[in-house]
Amino acid sequence: MAAAGAGAAAEIEVVMASIVRACLAVSIFTLLSVTTSADQAPQLSKVMRTKLARSQAILGAVVTSDWQALDRESRALAGVVRDPAWTMALTEPEYLRQSDAFSRALQDLIEASSRRDLEAAANAQVMLTTSCVRCHLHVTRSRVAR
Ligand code: HEC
Repeated sequence: MAAAGAGAAAEIEVVMASIVRACLAVSIFTLLSVTTSADQAPQLSKVMRTKLARSQAILGAVVTSDWQALDRESRALAGVVRDPAWTMALTEPEYLRQSDAFSRALQDLIEASSRRDLEAAANAQVMLTTSCVRCHLHVTRSRVAR
């Protein structure tokens, strides 16, 4: 087997950086499933469970550069904002802001997959996770305030 050239080495570096970010994202996922487990409507809960599964599939697609799966899962996840359980539950301004950030991140993921741009895909994946966490933080805060 031939030794890896400079180009391959640079590519490996990009992949490693995405894996580190992916691991970070996984720990955030674990955290958020612990912090958001109480008293929500069953419908919204179902939407959120589906979202978690899709987000995990997106993470897997980014890490393995599976562009087809990335495109498919991102489009499917982007559709949840049209679910009545989502639109009815999330009407506060801060929710709407985070819902926009969520949709934007998915748009970036779809574009990154069409360009086969691993760096952009990894960044958009982090933005997606950030939108989950920010919105959940807001949920937690408004609970504390009640
Ligand atoms: C715009 C706001 C918003 C965004 C963005 C958001 N969520 Fe949620 N999420 C909520 C709300 C509201 C709840 C319900 C909290 C409660 O009442 O306990 C929730 C709950 C959850 C739950 C717990 C469901 C259960 O059955 O216990 C999971 C899992 C979850 N979200 C995953 C995600 C993932 C993954 C993302 C990002 C891909 C995400 N959410 C993005 C608002 C959001």
